[in-house]
Amino acid sequence: MSYQAEYSNSIQNPEGFWAEKATDLPWYTPPKTILSTDENGIYRWFADGEMNTAYMALDHHVESGRGDQDALIYDSPVTGTKRKLTYRELRDEVAKFAGVLKAQGVTKGDRVVIYMPMVPEALIAMLGVARLGAIHSVVFGGFAPHELAVRIDDAEPKVVVSASCGIEVSKVIEYKPMLDQAIEQSAHKPKACIVLQRPEAKAALTAGRDIDWEEAMASAEPADCVPVKGTDPLYILYTSGTTGKPKGVVRDNGGHAVALKYSMKAIYNMAPGDVFWAASDVGWVVGHSYIVYGPLLAGCTTVVYEGKPVRTPDAGAFWRVVEEYKAKALFAAPTAFRAIKKEDPEASLLENYDLSSLKTIFMAGERLDPPTYDWTVSKTGKPVVDHWWQTETGWAICGNLMGIEPKTPKAGSSTLPVPGFNVQILGPDGQELPAGEQGSIALKLPLPPSCLPTIWGDFERFRTGYLSDFPGYYTSGDGGYKDEEGYVFIMGRTDDVINVAGHRLSTGEMEEIVAAHPAVAECAVIGVNDPLKGQAPIGLVLLKDGVEVEEDQLQGELVAMVRKEIGPIACFQRAIVVQRLPKTRSGKILRKLLRQIADGQSYTVPSTIDDPASLSEIEGIMDSHGLVQRA
Ligand code: COA
Ligand code: AMP
Repeated sequence: MSYQAEYSNSIQNPEGFWAEKATDLPWYTPPKTILSTDENGIYRWFADGEMNTAYMALDHHVESGRGDQDALIYDSPVTGTKRKLTYRELRDEVAKFAGVLKAQGVTKGDRVVIYMPMVPEALIAMLGVARLGAIHSVVFGGFAPHELAVRIDDAEPKVVVSASCGIEVSKVIEYKPMLDQAIEQSAHKPKACIVLQRPEAKAALTAGRDIDWEEAMASAEPADCVPVKGTDPLYILYTSGTTGKPKGVVRDNGGHAVALKYSMKAIYNMAPGDVFWAASDVGWVVGHSYIVYGPLLAGCTTVVYEGKPVRTPDAGAFWRVVEEYKAKALFAAPTAFRAIKKEDPEASLLENYDLSSLKTIFMAGERLDPPTYDWTVSKTGKPVVDHWWQTETGWAICGNLMGIEPKTPKAGSSTLPVPGFNVQILGPDGQELPAGEQGSIALKLPLPPSCLPTIWGDFERFRTGYLSDFPGYYTSGDGGYKDEEGYVFIMGRTDDVINVAGHRLSTGEMEEIVAAHPAVAECAVIGVNDPLKGQAPIGLVLLKDGVEVEEDQLQGELVAMVRKEIGPIACFQRAIVVQRLPKTRSGKILRKLLRQIADGQSYTVPSTIDDPASLSEIEGIMDSHGLVQRA
């Protein structure tokens, strides 16, 4: 099958295309209705199919003879632990944990928040929730209590599952006190918290609310899989938007399973029994799709790695894991490879390892800059696939289909649209732009399976945020262009979202926090280029009249505030004082211009600017702080 034939079929005959892909999964009742619209007028996939995602990912494989194959390999250099679970063992653990949740009254449609480090129990918890037809919402461990509280209030979980601690290189991060603070701050109170006690830090449990994971598992009655409809939600995953309130991306069961199963072969070229390693975290969409669901739906072995690309213990960590478990695919963010390149520029540690099992390296989460691409290709000698996707889609929108027809890659491009995604580059008037011209990247409806049908509890936010710019299209929020051969180049966000070390963050949210400082009259937070993390946020701060404060002291206080509210993951480390911020006459800060100045790009002074002199002034200040990128 050629790429072109597969792609054209998916666009010209989406119902037939996805109906056929759906037959690749063990439904309880296969769907008859392939594509329909819901009460909001949104396209939905497989509405009348009956299924259970955990059944498809575990029980089905045990029943069809894969029970003794490793499903999960846990490798934790930070604790010196390694553990393997076969499909049978994982299914049994998941069924028991589902029993623990059931005993707490969790039933179909209930929400369960999971705030855990990279341990097998995080996957067991997710799959246990799915087994009951309930909805999980995993919150990344690097988020502060406030962020967790916001998510608890939005998702209103019956139960929270957590652990006593996570380990960051050699630092023990106590999660339980953060969970306690979050519940103190949230208006919604969960009925129970199930806590995994780790030997590195034992947590104090709150009587009447907290339950010890191990004790509960010891006496749990395994629970059966609960059938759900294809359109019933599997999970909510919060992601950053342009405001302080994160968006709860809703993922349904049926479309998600079909798309991920298809992607495992089409994009990643994985077969049942192969070892797949996504070096991400279950708190991000990459972790949901390719540490948990994708590999298990496909009968592969997934690697759960609790460590970093460097310092645990060195820049050879990735190569060691690939060799030890014979990983066929490695998927990580470009930042991880930049970190390895920084510490081991010649990749001399690579010589200690046998990478013959590794067929392809996949990267996503942020722009893959050509130097990092070239370095990885030349040092490893492996094909490197840049693929572009978003929390909202749950899988790649553009990529190089290694299981269908690998194309010659081009550095800086995420290759071609993945089947199902009708990718168009639109100008401000909604017309498709010619090759080479940069515009908004939009996806013509219907979106393929797995893409979000709504924002949890806020359909209007989904409609206005994604569907109203160009009628009939989903707006991705990314800008870019296609070349003459249709290759897609993603050039960055067109909104106030930034990507720091592959982590998606909202500058709008950081601005709300910085603006709350008593000395600050106004501020703009923008992303500037960072050689390691891709982008880093910086604050440009205007002081209130008459306020006298040392710039260093102010910076220290602002850094601490962002860390406390969002968490260390925000990587907000710089704030500089400016006299004026460039604005339009209606008072809107010209953030795009600020970004262009920081990136050293040429810019056009808009006719709506209030005070043109503010631009050269701010450029001078940013330059004097080394914040203007020079070619
Ligand atoms: N729980 C608690 N804290 C966490 C955390 C977690 N799960 N993950 C990160 N943090 C903390 C870190 O300890 C650090 O805190 P500090 O400021 O007190 O040192 C801060 O958040 C920033 O973390 P990170 O961005 O990971 O920086 P780092 O300097 O520790 O490591 C890299 C740098 C490049 C090695 C790291 O960013 C990396 O591995 N990046 C790959 C990203 C990735 O996999 N993204 C997934 C999307 S596909
Ligand atoms: P997230 O929802 O956290 O996966 O972040 C999605 C955003 O990350 C996208 O909208 C892009 O801005 C960026 N992104 C993800 N993958 C890529 C890629 N391969 N190239 C460029 N940007 C990417």
